[in-house]
Amino acid sequence: MELTHIRNFSIIAHIDHGKSTLADQIMAVTQTVSARQLSDQLLDDLTVEKNHGVTVKARTARNLYQADDGHVYELNLIDTPGHVDFNYEVEKSLAASDGAILLVDATQGVQAQTVANLRLAEQAGLVILPVINKIDSVNAQIAATEKQIRQLNPELAQAPILQISAKTGQGVPEVLEAIVHYLPAPQGQVQAPLKALIFDSVYDPFKGVIVNLRLFDGQLQQNDQLQLMASQKTFHVHELGILTPDRTPTTTLKAGDVGYLITGIKDPQQVRVGDTITSVNHPTAQPFPGYQPPKPTVFTGLYPVKDYKTLKEALQKLTLNDPSFQISPETSDALGPGFRGGFLGIFHLQIIKERLLNEFGVEVLTTVPNVTYHVHLAEAADPKQFLTVNNPVRFPDFSQINYVTEPILRATIVTPENTVNNVMKWTEHYKGVLMDIQNQGQLIKLIYKIPLSELDYNFFSRLKSTSHGYASLSTKFLDYEPADVVRLDVRVNYSRVDALTFIIHRPDAPQLTQKLVTKLKYTIPRRLYPMPVQAVVEGKVLARVDVPPLRKNAAANNEKRSISKKQALLRRQNLNKRQAAHNDIELPQEVFNAILDLE
Ligand code: GTP
Repeated sequence: MELTHIRNFSIIAHIDHGKSTLADQIMAVTQTVSARQLSDQLLDDLTVEKNHGVTVKARTARNLYQADDGHVYELNLIDTPGHVDFNYEVEKSLAASDGAILLVDATQGVQAQTVANLRLAEQAGLVILPVINKIDSVNAQIAATEKQIRQLNPELAQAPILQISAKTGQGVPEVLEAIVHYLPAPQGQVQAPLKALIFDSVYDPFKGVIVNLRLFDGQLQQNDQLQLMASQKTFHVHELGILTPDRTPTTTLKAGDVGYLITGIKDPQQVRVGDTITSVNHPTAQPFPGYQPPKPTVFTGLYPVKDYKTLKEALQKLTLNDPSFQISPETSDALGPGFRGGFLGIFHLQIIKERLLNEFGVEVLTTVPNVTYHVHLAEAADPKQFLTVNNPVRFPDFSQINYVTEPILRATIVTPENTVNNVMKWTEHYKGVLMDIQNQGQLIKLIYKIPLSELDYNFFSRLKSTSHGYASLSTKFLDYEPADVVRLDVRVNYSRVDALTFIIHRPDAPQLTQKLVTKLKYTIPRRLYPMPVQAVVEGKVLARVDVPPLRKNAAANNEKRSISKKQALLRRQNLNKRQAAHNDIELPQEVFNAILDLE
């Protein structure tokens, strides 16, 4: 296909604004897939994506479209995820595109992720085609949405704005025409040395690493000798082809094309998304500025519910498929051997947990998530030096600490005017500090500084419920700032349980410890004897409860039993108490879930 007849584009939108539905329509109109195949949203084929209705891994599909001008065009659609935690994948998809459809739901208008994704597309230098979706809905506010889009940037103030219903298909043919006429064709030279960008990769145990790539210059054939420019690894092309959206082998890929490549490389660490592929014989002079996978920000312990080995294998496979998820081995006294997992956010953690279950049948126990702290020690030779702590168990004793800093985010919340008071009340409850308020018609944009450690499930669901589902959030890392945090230890039967160690903000300590021990009272599995549970901060017991014994004290006075029977029972209970000193306390997932519910 000639370059002038190719378009490589992404669809960017806020979550649930209809990307997958539009992607399906495009594939249906161009007959890329049959109506039957589309009965399930095809691009979202991971089970978790179906459960959450959220796209997690970006997918790509080539569509052939005969335009009104009589020519056949190759429209390569690159699907992008819509959730805050997955900006990394959006960036990869955008780097492989020349244009982007900015899809906005007419019933909700411009939302935080609409703006965040638009900014990424602007940085990638893409041409933006704005499209208003869901015009069939009775709640559609088309004129207001159009006004909001026009205010986003000077180009959009002038751009044609299409109105569609991805659900009924109304306006979709016009979108295809606009892709052809409004979005640019790729530039590049087939004769130039090969220069291709890896924008996604998966590992196959038989075929090795399979990459999705976009060719900017040159061409590719089977058996070509290629090189990964960052890792310097060379390899032969085992197979190449296009995504329809299934992998379909072809004989060549040329500048401007999007497709896949089977590398045969068995070590996934050598193949990095963002790396440049070139030819060994005619290498390109200038690789792409490779981008690194983002650093995980949220950490949690991952422990086997059944056996360690199966968990380990499943986790290793998942890290290959998702480079932003990282693991390292750790051992807990209470939970045995396991791993510390690093995630892009709470939602990412939840997705990984579900993928483990759905794709590998592995149940995992997760401890309470935490962020990375920088601990400046009192005795440090260099005051700028600090200890990086992402496991609360490693948090030094308070007597050794000079001060601690924690990650702070800039959070942008967009919410309807009538919900602003409630949203502000709750965000401040989660230690948000208001930086700016901007009026955008009926929507208000609030800009906060907020500790990353406060952004948990509760914050998201609180934000949604106080705004009747309308508030939207996007976040960006700002800096590390001094934080008044302390380590909270839990002692059961007077001995510390390492899996129940947390870092908390000091002002929260009195209330939180009370609530924590009360929760533990009802979730820690009972024994035949009462178990004291204490919450300890800086050497002081701030709260205490007794987990009641499994059975009432059979030796108590008012029981109608013979003396000798009572004595026998007492002996047995004493024996149990002594065993308890070894502290083999069980910690099921419910214990950690209960703690997550604390506010
Ligand atoms: P993520 O992948 O989670 O970011 O969502 P998405 O943007 O892909 O949204 P999706 O296509 O899953 O659509 C979200 C919901 O909106 C679904 O329930 C769709 O049926 C519905 N929807 C999509 N387009 C339209 C439309 O044109 N009209 C109406 N009424 N509903 C629509």
